Amino acid sequence: METCGLETSNLYFDTQLNMTMAYDFDIIIDRRGTGSVKYEMLTEMFRREDLIPLWVADMDFETPPFIMDALRRRLEHPVLGYTVLPADYWQTVATWIEEHHQWKVKTKWMTYIPGIVKGIGMVVNVFVAPDEKVIIQPPVYHPFRLTPLGNHREVVYNPLVEHEDGSYSMDFDNLERVCDEKCRVLILSNPHNPAGIVWDRETLVRLATFCAEHHILVVSDEIHCDMALFGNKHVPFASVSEEAAQCSITFGAPSKTFNIAGVVSSWAVVPNAEIRKKFFGWLEANEQNAPHLFAPIATMAALKE
Ligand SMILES: Cc1ncc(COP(=O)(O)O)c(C=O)c1O
Repeated sequence: METCGLETSNLYFDTQLNMTMAYDFDIIIDRRGTGSVKYEMLTEMFRREDLIPLWVADMDFETPPFIMDALRRRLEHPVLGYTVLPADYWQTVATWIEEHHQWKVKTKWMTYIPGIVKGIGMVVNVFVAPDEKVIIQPPVYHPFRLTPLGNHREVVYNPLVEHEDGSYSMDFDNLERVCDEKCRVLILSNPHNPAGIVWDRETLVRLATFCAEHHILVVSDEIHCDMALFGNKHVPFASVSEEAAQCSITFGAPSKTFNIAGVVSSWAVVPNAEIRKKFFGWLEANEQNAPHLFAPIATMAALKE
């Protein structure tokens, strides 16, 4: 692997040293003994020790120094009390989304959530009655199935179609067949995990039209959106049409992009006022919109620096 440090993507500006530095992706970091899920649970999950733990999506690269520095600076203060989001928090997130993904979001559309899988669980509880159903499109990130099932909601499957060249597409004919009036939510992986599919605008427009017509709320999980590689361009679901904006909740986070999954800092973007009232009201009542101390610090450092 080429890691000479001269490629622009390997460079960052260190505000403390006031100079440009290179990331070193060759450092081998021993994470054992740090409570890392993917190492500590390896034997329990697979009954073997001699495995490379590729089963959890956090990286063995160092978390960027500007995030570590921001957290360290906070730890120099002797009191670790309750926290609020800084005043410019949502504008910072909105600017990131607009600059990177050309989706203009209003700050009032946004809320903190404590993780995306937890967010899916909350949506299931708030929007899907016990006799209603959730649609997923396998193969897909397994909590999309386990979270509704764990909450005793029926899961409806609309498998992706795999083509001879290894590409995938959504099966709209099958979606029409499997969907009934009890289907309340569709969980979209955008980009799609696994297979690394960056959904195109046309597919997302078609999905939005289908879901709007069938009164289905789309949860668009966009956690991997910053990592569209090889010329691919992420298209935020809610940005493709007014229909899409009005029938969706989008989840995002800095956790994958900056390797801070353990910090647990995520957001939801909800353009529709009615959906927002219901969802944000539930979050507020249960204080699920209250960030823990380190979430805004790490997130602001990531997005600003
Ligand atoms: C598609 C997808 N969504 C969500 C998550 C997890 O997000 P969180 O840690 O915020 O629950 C992952 C982690 O691998 C993922 O791949």
